[in-house]
Amino acid sequence: MSNQPSTSDWPGERSQDWPVTRAEAQRMIEALRAEIAHHNELYYQQHAPIIADYDYDQLVRRLQALEAAFPELITPDSPTQRVGGSPGGGFKSVPHRIRMLSLDNVYAPEELREWEARCRRVYDGPFDYVAELKIDGLSLALRYTDGVLTEAVTRGDGTTGDLVTDNARTIRQLPQRLAAPLGSDIEVRGEVYLPLSAFRQLNAALEAEGEKTFVNPRNAAAGTMKLLDAHVVAGRGLAMFCYELFVNGVKPFETHWESLTWLRQAAFPVNPHARRCATLDEVLAYCAEMESQRATRDYDTDGVVVKVNPIRVQQELGETAKAPRWAVAYKFAPMRVRTRLRGVTWQVGRLGTLTPVAELEPVFVAGTTVARASLHNEDQIQRLDVRLGDQVIVEKSGDIIPQVVGVVTEARTGAEAPIVVPTLCPGCPDRQVRLVRAEGEVAWRCPEPHCPTKLRQALQHFAARTAMDIEGLGEVVIDKLVREGLVTDCADLYTLTAEQVAALERLGDKSAQNLMAQIARSKTAGLERLLFALGIPDVGRRKAQLLAHHFGSLAALAGASEEALTAVRDIGTTTARRIREWFADDRHRHLIARLEAAGVVTRLETSGSQTAARLAGKQFVLTGTLPTLTRNAATALIEAAGGRVTGTVSKKTNYVVVGDNPGSKLAKAQALGVPVLDEAGLLALLNGRGTPAMPPASL
Ligand code: IVH
Repeated sequence: MSNQPSTSDWPGERSQDWPVTRAEAQRMIEALRAEIAHHNELYYQQHAPIIADYDYDQLVRRLQALEAAFPELITPDSPTQRVGGSPGGGFKSVPHRIRMLSLDNVYAPEELREWEARCRRVYDGPFDYVAELKIDGLSLALRYTDGVLTEAVTRGDGTTGDLVTDNARTIRQLPQRLAAPLGSDIEVRGEVYLPLSAFRQLNAALEAEGEKTFVNPRNAAAGTMKLLDAHVVAGRGLAMFCYELFVNGVKPFETHWESLTWLRQAAFPVNPHARRCATLDEVLAYCAEMESQRATRDYDTDGVVVKVNPIRVQQELGETAKAPRWAVAYKFAPMRVRTRLRGVTWQVGRLGTLTPVAELEPVFVAGTTVARASLHNEDQIQRLDVRLGDQVIVEKSGDIIPQVVGVVTEARTGAEAPIVVPTLCPGCPDRQVRLVRAEGEVAWRCPEPHCPTKLRQALQHFAARTAMDIEGLGEVVIDKLVREGLVTDCADLYTLTAEQVAALERLGDKSAQNLMAQIARSKTAGLERLLFALGIPDVGRRKAQLLAHHFGSLAALAGASEEALTAVRDIGTTTARRIREWFADDRHRHLIARLEAAGVVTRLETSGSQTAARLAGKQFVLTGTLPTLTRNAATALIEAAGGRVTGTVSKKTNYVVVGDNPGSKLAKAQALGVPVLDEAGLLALLNGRGTPAMPPASL
């Protein structure tokens, strides 16, 4: 149930761009929420799901799309509002009894002093501080009922989180039962993290399995917490540091320090570096000390949390909507390391743009080994005056790709060599293609339309989850298809035969079949996705969406003048020109004609979202052999249109699709009076031509 599309980078889908009215959307949203809640109940409470994970994901996706179009209809209890980007994450959502707040950040000693001054303005009596390491993980609330660990809930949106008790139980340091509980209801909060050693081990194992690795320990910890199989979680070695205590909903001691002391003696893991500080100068000294030791620990820290120690003063200071006033996070500077630049690789992107990538002597920084970093473009190389063999400064902050930010010129030996920008495209096999750099542009480009590297990148973009969403068409398969000469542009995907795909090296029959079904399914992805997938320069997801709704079809967009294009909100003259140029290219016109001929939906009226809305929630049962569609393909088409395919006929079944030699399902459908369709009827329904259900008696 992962792979959720993020709606956050689909901002501003407005009601006027959306083909349904607000009232219709409201009804659809409510129906989807109810349906998702129903399936959650079946899955988590009754352990008896009636739909596949994929179908469930589709429901959540449709809800996300609708909510993105009508953000005013989003309610905090919507299944999409669960933090962590995994509304379909598969855990029961439970409310926090006490809200889990976040922290305000400060980045320099002066800012910390300003925070102190603000505190002192509100409370002018004496108080001391507790300074603790800020662990870079995910926060978790543990509940002990009558001394027994009964619930573990992730932070979620602060108000509600995921119930992950089984996963939390795998954290070996945590007491399952308290020797001397302070009350019947104890809540302990803290940060779950993956030790760096465990993180390295995990990534090595994932790599050996050919699976995707995690970019940093925090993502690995969060990803692990979301796993549905607690056995797998147990094997990963999560750990935790606890830092908050509530007894029957209130802080039980007079000071925060006493809470930490109690937690420690009650066998909870408490970070050993927590320190009581009488003055802010002591706090600042602590921050400097902790920052200097940062790289020596077996867990990532991203700062120090400074807390007012007396609870009475905490209460006086109170909290804002988001964070307490009595605590603040002093953030460490981004990690900078020095290493040697071994070489530069020039990568060719899907539009032919060349990007220099620094190949570094690997260094371990903030939880990950950095061996590559971005050099952006030729101008940046000149600005830094960076040379091969140089000692360079690499900065890594959060999840951002590491950057080369400087050169240690004093360390030069004289053996450093200038970085030479290639004149020929490194992605073209015969290497005879001259790169071009347009007036006013910072990047060199490969102008060769048949550049195989460009093609591979373009196909990866076309198949991406946010584009045509063709599962199974990843880098490796694309490589094979391009190498075999089977695909020279994205339209070729739709003329591939099952035999051709099955014959690809080491692609089993089943994967080939699935891939064919996914490709077929992508035909109905809809105009918005298609426009984005085509990779028209400057047309990202948002612009694709605006253009789709404004022009309504690929043909109309292709014929639009620059003036017509700039009339669209947010489309400026440069983008308009680029779009015109793209459509003026004969090869692109030919490509569009072939996509249309292959049956790819190029009009808005039959876009995925609308079809999906039409068949949302409809249950189908397939029986017998259909004349042209395989079972997989029929399922994919129904699912793409928002319907679901289940195995058994019941009163809830909306249609039974019948082929040759149907089984007992037909008789059951007839007995229950469920409408029966043949393949033609199914296709008509998918294409929005009425309700062609044949009365059962006519079969
Ligand atoms: S106290 C109401 N202490 O940092 C105050 N938080 O950026 C609650 N964190 O959501 C937080 N180490 O997940 C506190 N020693 C520590 C922490 C810590 C890490 C996390 C926590 C919080 C986030 C805020």
